[in-house]
Amino acid sequence: MTDTYKAVEVSAPGTLRAVRRPISEPGAGQVRIRVEACGICHTDAATVTGIYPGLTLPRVPGHEVVGRIEALGPGVSRWKIGERVGVGLIAGEDGVCEPCRRGDTVNCQNPVVSGVTVDGGYAEVMIAEARGITSIPDELSSAEAAPLLCAGVTTYNGLRNAGLRSGDLVAVQGIGGLGHLGVQFARQMGFHTVAIGRGRDKKKLAKDLGAHLYIDAAVEDAAAVLQRMGGARAILATGTSGAAMGRLVAGLAARGKLIVVGAPEDQIQLSAIPLIFGGRSVYGSLTGTPIDSEDTLAFSVLETIRPMIETAPLEQAADAYARMMQGKARFRMVLVTGQ
Ligand SMILES: NC(=O)c1ccc[n+]([C@@H]2O[C@H](COP(=O)([O-])OP(=O)(O)OC[C@H]3O[C@@H](n4cnc5c(N)ncnc54)[C@H](OP(=O)(O)O)[C@@H]3O)[C@@H](O)[C@H]2O)c1
Ligand SMILES: [Zn+2]
Ligand SMILES: [Zn+2]
Repeated sequence: MTDTYKAVEVSAPGTLRAVRRPISEPGAGQVRIRVEACGICHTDAATVTGIYPGLTLPRVPGHEVVGRIEALGPGVSRWKIGERVGVGLIAGEDGVCEPCRRGDTVNCQNPVVSGVTVDGGYAEVMIAEARGITSIPDELSSAEAAPLLCAGVTTYNGLRNAGLRSGDLVAVQGIGGLGHLGVQFARQMGFHTVAIGRGRDKKKLAKDLGAHLYIDAAVEDAAAVLQRMGGARAILATGTSGAAMGRLVAGLAARGKLIVVGAPEDQIQLSAIPLIFGGRSVYGSLTGTPIDSEDTLAFSVLETIRPMIETAPLEQAADAYARMMQGKARFRMVLVTGQ
């Protein structure tokens, strides 16, 4: 082992640059991880462009991280050197704010955010808070497990916390990194599963992922199709267009829910009428806790759910990121290191 490691950092807005950094020892309550894989999430764009609130540059992006623990900081007893672990976006709560004191740690007001408040996983090495890491089951390779730590837990939690019943009509809008996992979870959770994407080329992929029906929103009015089917009990909106999200409310059944997990830059335009008449609702859901990620991984092993991935070496992070931003990834770019 050398005393430096390779990382890819955002040195200035829009610039991903390979650098070498000195390896440091984990502090109290922290572990040092030798990274094996890191997924490229669309949320990384908020680090690359520099707009994530509270971000300072330079910063190493990446919050779908899997690797092995190689050093333990003082006071860490839960984890062992050599264990394979993962790190997601919200990777350590402060434990003292009001949501934390109410047990709602994912909504901590002062969280450790991988790739934002601390350096993330576009690197050979990452320091993480021991309370913020997730155990990785042997059945999953590191590259397969990585996307489950953000795209996976976000869609899994969004669906499982929506008060749905088996057989309910549930749509997943956006067939990208999040959406292609959302479709698989919806199907395996026992819902009548509709995938809403743009373009004919995604139809076969969506069906292969388990969708009972694919709606091509480029040529069909998705809300109208859902209404003809009786209306969706829930729509998990994973896309990056607020305009497209707002139009979906009209596809909900009475009491139906639009679960916003995609984070578009434009506003979501809403009409009050379908919200009032029919008691429909729109709310957001933020990723999950480390134990939620362990549930996501366990369910994925149980039901043979895997992300569809394209791997690239760490050195090609900028190209892989660009491929994701262009919507070309099928469906998750994963950086692999040290293999
Ligand atoms: N809530 C959370 O905790 C959380 C966690 C992770 C990510 N996110 C957010 O979720 C979003 C998706 O992330 P990702 O990693 O899945 O991104 P991605 O792989 O790049 O996929 C982007 C998605 O956006 C859709 N899309 C793009 N332009 C669109 C348009 N004009 N109209 C409708 N849909 C459009 C695409 O749908 P098509 O299938 O139609 O091409 C695709 O499914 C991002 O905004 C990200 O920041 C939120
Ligand atoms: Zn993410
Ligand atoms: Zn807190």
